Amino acid sequence: MTATDRLESERIFHDQQAAERAVSFRTGRADLVFSDGAFLDHETWVRPAFAMLGDLHGKHALDYGCGHGMAAVVMARAGASVSAFDLSPGYVAEAQERAFANSVNVECVAADGEELPFADASFDAVWGNAILHHLDLTRAGKELLRVLKPGGVAVFCEPWGGNPLLAFARRRLPYPGKDRTPDERPLTRRDLAPLRAIFPDVEVSGFQLLGMIRRVWRNRFACRVCDGIDAGLLRMLPGLRNWCRYAVIALRKPMD
Ligand SMILES: C[S@@+](CC[C@H](N)C(=O)[O-])C[C@H]1O[C@@H](n2cnc3c(N)ncnc32)[C@H](O)[C@@H]1O
Repeated sequence: MTATDRLESERIFHDQQAAERAVSFRTGRADLVFSDGAFLDHETWVRPAFAMLGDLHGKHALDYGCGHGMAAVVMARAGASVSAFDLSPGYVAEAQERAFANSVNVECVAADGEELPFADASFDAVWGNAILHHLDLTRAGKELLRVLKPGGVAVFCEPWGGNPLLAFARRRLPYPGKDRTPDERPLTRRDLAPLRAIFPDVEVSGFQLLGMIRRVWRNRFACRVCDGIDAGLLRMLPGLRNWCRYAVIALRKPMD
């Protein structure tokens, strides 16, 4: 598949998803208005990852591959001036409507994460959730370095592919929310090599080792116990992050 075919297939897949979501907003089955907590606590890695962006007040922030645009709204409510982009015009429309419904201003554009329509050194902070694993990381990494200001940070939350048991489950087991595009792949250590070649400072942390049980068993108490054990295990044995469900990847651009 050529790069153009890949982009087209991603765009069609996500536009279709956005069109289905648009119906649920129109018919009142879902609401565009939400609280910060609803976004920051919808997965265990989101709040700690968001904290890595630092104080956003007065900063220029980018929601990279914004999809529904919830992160853009939360960044705007934290005092940032926010831009957001996505390949799918359907999702860009949702992000724009969501910003409006939540009474914040977000500049939303349709764009490819491998060829950004922003000037050099535009952003202090870049946020991305479940986006890098759709991209060519050499092209995306170069663009990230270009649009970040010196001293800026980009934080990404990405499905991680280092656990063979989880890889098997992702391939074979039925569970909710499994829709995938043909080209996306959970990231592995090897996939990060292009980013490490571009950014001198790449920090990777793992989330949901035992806690990934919540994908099939939504018992709150059990999940909380697993999260507690995970926190201890990952502190003592950081190498176990390779077995986690998700990784948070922070890329820092050095000061000039
Ligand atoms: C799994 S969704 C994540 C969306 C959102 N960040 C979130 O938190 O839910 C992946 C998103 O990446 C977008 N995408 C895929 N390839 C892209 C590309 N080359 N450039 C920009 N966005 C892309 C899709 O349209 C989709 O909205």
